[in-house]
Amino acid sequence: MKRRYLVAGNWKMHGSLSANAALLDALCARAAEFPAVELLVCPPAVYLESVQRRLAGTPWQLGAQNLSEQTEPGAHTGEILGRMLAEFGCRYVIVGHSERRALYGEDDARVARKFAAAQHSGLRPILCVGETLEQREAGQTEAVLARQLDAVLAHCGIAAFERAVIAYEPVWAIGTGRNATPEQAQAAHAFLRGRLAEKDAKLSNSIRLLYGGSVKADNAQALFAGADVDGGLVGGASLKADEFLAICAAAQRLSE
Ligand code: PGA
Repeated sequence: MKRRYLVAGNWKMHGSLSANAALLDALCARAAEFPAVELLVCPPAVYLESVQRRLAGTPWQLGAQNLSEQTEPGAHTGEILGRMLAEFGCRYVIVGHSERRALYGEDDARVARKFAAAQHSGLRPILCVGETLEQREAGQTEAVLARQLDAVLAHCGIAAFERAVIAYEPVWAIGTGRNATPEQAQAAHAFLRGRLAEKDAKLSNSIRLLYGGSVKADNAQALFAGADVDGGLVGGASLKADEFLAICAAAQRLSE
């Protein structure tokens, strides 16, 4: 029995009140078609309250894209405490997305602290890991994934992964239209699951591993079919209702 699929939309820095309303109306209208799939959207933080209101009573769940590494309120201008995200109905929070690592200086240690802060607030972290093209071509993919995962394991311990999700997102596939092949995705996922199994076999079998990087309606089913692929973290395609719903439908078909 495979784990329950999770399809998560990462809106990144996109959206407006009117665009969100149209997108959410379309997503909510068809949510009942995917009863086997866990459905999630992660809008920019300023929209959480309005999105929460729109999604109330629907199967769609809410997540955030980032949080502070702090666990208590304080003088941290511009930062958002995990507890605040939880107060607005977030169940998940993306941690260590490659854009935050590359553009906002988040190193492995900070990502680990954010993972811990999410847990502290009762949020489920979606930990993003993935190699650059240069690293892949140099044969370093597994070493990079191991380093990124081990940093969080060392700081938080394996038990913290009980309520976490991991997203394998090869940097070269994000926003490029060049997705990993299903074989490449499955191999990376199997590696990650194996690494967790060294610490806790039972947990490694139940944790969900998402693939992210140019997931589209026409490649989702092949990517999600991998034995260790439990859904997707979807950027660009999550902003187009038809495209995103088709990705949800692929996960539903694979669950039947
Ligand atoms: P993409 O982004 O689907 O636009 O490639 C995925 C992500 O960054 O989570």
